[in-house]
Amino acid sequence: MKVLMVCLGNICRSPIAEGVLQDKVEKAGLHWQVDSAGTNGYHNGEHPHATSQMVCRLNGIDISHQRSRPFQAVDFEQYDLIIPMAADVLREMKYIAGKKYDTGKVKLLLNYSFPNTDLDVPDPWGRSVAAFHEVYDLINHACDALIEEHTSAKQP
Ligand code: 4NP
Repeated sequence: MKVLMVCLGNICRSPIAEGVLQDKVEKAGLHWQVDSAGTNGYHNGEHPHATSQMVCRLNGIDISHQRSRPFQAVDFEQYDLIIPMAADVLREMKYIAGKKYDTGKVKLLLNYSFPNTDLDVPDPWGRSVAAFHEVYDLINHACDALIEEHTSAKQP
């Protein structure tokens, strides 16, 4: 399975989500590919935000190798599952993907951990270190639920 985590800048939330899910799939012995992208393209080629890197490092996850890249319509041909961090990201994804948008491949991240609530992972950009820890915890919990849902025998 190929999974793409998406936020606006691909420097704060989705790099954490990529790192956390990658770590969990490796520990679970799953052969998934995990990547991330951003809808606004403002930070192309940049490393993850220093505070995202720090919060991941404190949890034993190194995301320093990641680089921001733009979300593209063609991602709908290349990934099985595309996970926006928030409703505004989902709207941007629809706009960018146009006719390639495939609703069957998309689920808001926090709908894994809090089903049918359509909650956002709050954007921590410009906010405190505590906000990044909160984002990490939300993502960590949701990624456990994502793996559970997509590996469970109950899955259709
Ligand atoms: P992210 O946070 O979407 O979690 O990477 C943001 C980073 C940068 C911007 C917006 C959100 N920006 O507008 O530059």
